Formats: sequence, structure tokens, C-alpha cells
Amino acid sequence: MFPTVSFTDDVVHDARTALAESGAALITGAGLSDAGLAALVSAIHGDHQGRTDPHAFEKANALQPQAASGMFPLPLHRDAALIGRPTRIIGFQSSYTTPETPTGLLELVDTVRAINEIDQDLLDTLTEHPLEYCVPDRRPFPFLPESWFRRPVFTQTSAGQALRVILPVDIASPPWLVRLVGLDDAESRKVLRELDTQLRGSTTFVAHHWTPGDVFLVDNSRVLHGITAVPAGALHRTVRQSV
Ligand SMILES: [Fe+2]
Repeated sequence: MFPTVSFTDDVVHDARTALAESGAALITGAGLSDAGLAALVSAIHGDHQGRTDPHAFEKANALQPQAASGMFPLPLHRDAALIGRPTRIIGFQSSYTTPETPTGLLELVDTVRAINEIDQDLLDTLTEHPLEYCVPDRRPFPFLPESWFRRPVFTQTSAGQALRVILPVDIASPPWLVRLVGLDDAESRKVLRELDTQLRGSTTFVAHHWTPGDVFLVDNSRVLHGITAVPAGALHRTVRQSV
């Protein structure tokens, strides 16, 4: 579970405290514009001190719901870890959604706490066989290697050891491929499925059903996130801002 913070004059201070303790925080009823969300994320990340000017975080004007173009489910992952420039804080906000057909749920797991709940055998396997990745379409990231490249599985954060993993996308032409060094494809898939299962079985795992105006702040150095599918035509909009 992750703490809930009220959108008051102390929101920056309270959100920082919650992020330091738990890795993520829910702010209910924020209802910010996209620029307001970006300003809030920057203030939490930056050197902002004291109470907040209530005009600093612009509120949204009412948005007319529009049909989404659709999005495949994103597995548990850490943003921008493949390109070596991971963001620190991510803010997600729901503008509108249809509660009767939950879609685009935000899935979160705090790996600093979850790592203590994962079987030692699985952690040993990840130590012995680190993850490697391949990005078939490198056009947005031409500096990435053409072939498979490794990224560290474990990372040290101020809160403790965390997992830095990006799980595979289960679609026909995935934007990235993942496997374990030294294991064949079937063995790799089995280990990655088991890791996904254990992360989702963690006491810190949540799948957040959006209420419009909710903001979820995520410390990308320790919390992995995933997003469930958004079917084409769904009335659903979430915005993501990061620093
Ligand atoms: Fe992401």
C-alpha cells in the first residue's frame, strides 16, 4: 500500500515525506492541468521550500472526454532504464475515466520493500544470470547497441537495495525484448514470469482504479510501474509528467 496525501498548502512537503517513506504517494482530488502537474512534479523534485503558493499548480479546465486510441498493457518496468537516463519522479494524473469499465489501471510495487519478500532462489538466479535487453526499433534511441545489452538488476537507493528490471511486453511485435544471460528463451520466460508473479504477490503491490483528479507520484528509482490495457474507444485519459 502507499500513503494518501491531501492537496493542501503543504502538499509538496507531505508528498516528499510520503515518497521518502514508501516510494509512492496518492494525492486525491488534485485536478491539475497538464502544466500544473508538471509544476508539482518539478517542485517535489527540486529545491522548493516551505508552503506552496496555491496558484503555482494550475487547476484543469473541464476536459471533454474523448475516445482513446488504445494501448497495450505495459508490464512492470522502470522508466527510461534502458536508455541509461532514468527519471527520478513520475506524476500520473487521471483526467477522466469510466469507473464501470476499469481501464488503464496503474500498477505499482515498491521493490525496496518487496525485495525482502522474494524467494532467495529467485534473487540468486537474477544475480547469476543478469537481465539483458534488445530494442528492435532503435530509431528513437539510435545510441543504443544494435544487439543485446545488459543493465544491472540491483541498484542501491537511499532507502535500500532496489530492483531495476523491465519485464517483457507480451504482444506480437514488442518494443523491447528481455532475457536472462546464459539461459535459453524458455528458461528466461519462466524466471521472468516467476519474478512478475512474486512482485504482484508483494504486500506493496497495488493496482489503482482511477478517480478523475487523482495524482499518483512515483519514485522511479525504487518503484516499478505497469499499466493495464486501454481498449480503443475507451473514455480514459491519464497524463504522465516526469523529472
Ligand atoms: Fe512507464
